[in-house]
Amino acid sequence: MKPFGSLRTHGAGSLRAAHADETVTVAGWVARRRDHGGVAFLDLRDASGVCQVVADPTASEALAAAHDVRGEWVIRVSGRVRLRPEGMANPSLATGDVEVAASELEVLSPADTPPFPVADERDDVDEAVRLRHRYVDLRRQGPARALRLRARATSTIRRVMDAHGFVDVETPMLTRSTPEGARDFLVPTRTGPGVCYALPQSPQLFKQLLMVGGVERYYQIVRCFRDEAQRADRQPEFTQLDIEAAFIDEEDLYALVEELMGVLMSEVVGVEVATPFPRLAYDDAMARFGTDSPDMRFGLELVDCGAVFADTAVGVFAGALNAGGSVIAVMLPGGGQLTRKQFDEWVDWAKGRRARGLAWGVVESGEGGVTLRSPLSKHMSDDEIAALLRITGAEVGDAVFFGAGPTEFTRELMGALRVALARAHDLVPSDQWRFVWIVDWPLFEWDAEEGRWESLHHPFTAPREADLDKLSGEPEAVRARGYDLVLNGTELGGGSMRIHHPQVQQQVFEILGIGPEEAEEKFGFLLRGLRHGAPPHGGIALGLDRLVMLMAGEASIRDVIAFPKLSGSDPLTDAPAPVGGEQLREVGLRPLSMGT
Ligand code: AMO
Repeated sequence: MKPFGSLRTHGAGSLRAAHADETVTVAGWVARRRDHGGVAFLDLRDASGVCQVVADPTASEALAAAHDVRGEWVIRVSGRVRLRPEGMANPSLATGDVEVAASELEVLSPADTPPFPVADERDDVDEAVRLRHRYVDLRRQGPARALRLRARATSTIRRVMDAHGFVDVETPMLTRSTPEGARDFLVPTRTGPGVCYALPQSPQLFKQLLMVGGVERYYQIVRCFRDEAQRADRQPEFTQLDIEAAFIDEEDLYALVEELMGVLMSEVVGVEVATPFPRLAYDDAMARFGTDSPDMRFGLELVDCGAVFADTAVGVFAGALNAGGSVIAVMLPGGGQLTRKQFDEWVDWAKGRRARGLAWGVVESGEGGVTLRSPLSKHMSDDEIAALLRITGAEVGDAVFFGAGPTEFTRELMGALRVALARAHDLVPSDQWRFVWIVDWPLFEWDAEEGRWESLHHPFTAPREADLDKLSGEPEAVRARGYDLVLNGTELGGGSMRIHHPQVQQQVFEILGIGPEEAEEKFGFLLRGLRHGAPPHGGIALGLDRLVMLMAGEASIRDVIAFPKLSGSDPLTDAPAPVGGEQLREVGLRPLSMGT
């Protein structure tokens, strides 16, 4: 592609043997310089790639300028393209057959010594340093590629959504709190002391009101804000592909998202994924994988051993089962190779996750047939061992790990062990793309600490029609019309069909402990909207950063965000920053003196 702008004729990375003898002007950053006195070689980098520039005494001014330039200076070079001398071609460079013989070399901007080498593709530069100088970091191949991949993904998304008649609508950034389960970022105003806007955790209520407003098909690539602890897949501000449609049901939504994912994977990653995606009930996901976002690329599924050890003499197992808990096994094929020390390390790993312990056994063939070598095996009967081998499928040379304790905790522990074991033993195929819908969610979960019901998704999720009469009386039995989309163990998105009857919405608020007055104060605008003719509607929001992270093969969403936050602040601008007293007073805040 011809470079944009009249300061140059060609992109540095576009030069080929076919350009030989053409006079070109290229501009960019000095990626590397080798100055042999009589002749200087510069690698010139721009967004299109790198080409070699040679300055020699035939153009003495250009050579003098080339002596002066340093790494990362911005220069413009005019000269003739020529084939590199025999044996000097660089096959690892797209432009490696040619070089530009500089006749003019102009310094457009000198540069400070870069804080880290740009050409270096190693990942050992401290992330805080990289992000503080992100403008330098973005010149590196990895980050530059990630930004471009993200742009390709968003333009593909827009094309597919537009083709389906979805309307791109912007919703407010200065708004009221939307309950998505995180803390709000507040924006104080001059309206009065303590009067704040909240930045949206999502456009949830606005998109529902757009449905009441007859938009019918809405989408937005939208920034959301959540004040929550940082993780590799979480940022305080992040981007959703937010979707809502009227007069649809779950099947319409699944089909749309599957088509969209199929096109994205095909066009952006070059991978064809099979549709429809498999569906897994929430309860099965928890029982088989110990998580609601299972990685389906490998086995090592959790095996409930309650029936095997119902009358066991193994104390920890009997204790867990008698207390109403579970004994759960994970079988590691070939795990018999592990040394005693390695097993001990896994036990310590479990203790590091607040487990009381982790039992293990290795299947061996002994004199009397197949046996289990385990610190616990002297308490296990032959029948128990035989049943265990049957349900786990373990054979000679395999290892079995056991967790015992309260069911929820033990499932989570063994689910995490499953992933950790698979990673440690290279059982995760990195070239597979396993999407799965998690369906059949409970509408509520009991928060024992707070002593109240909470929504598993959010309070606007519709209960299943057949469960409506269970709302009063047995909230635990009500299933939601909600779904999550999971890819390779990462939750990509979540959504639901929504409540569109105000009285059902009010009933749900009440179960959540939100009385009529509070509901009116916080969500009056929604309830009024629902009373003005709300069509049946539903939607989903997909985490764009997470999607692009997976497509780019990156380990953190910070890698696919131009200017990400690190540990809750911006290393580039040092935001958030203290604000002057006068500005604070205007918005009704008093400056705190140090130490208060
Ligand atoms: P939910 O809260 O599940 O649903 O969010 C949808 C998706 O957004 C992404 N996500 C995040 N990505 C990066 N950093 C974060 N802090 C973060 N939080 C969430 C995840 C997640 O799956 N309004 C509903 C959607 C709906 O019901 O339509 C919502 O926001 O990929």
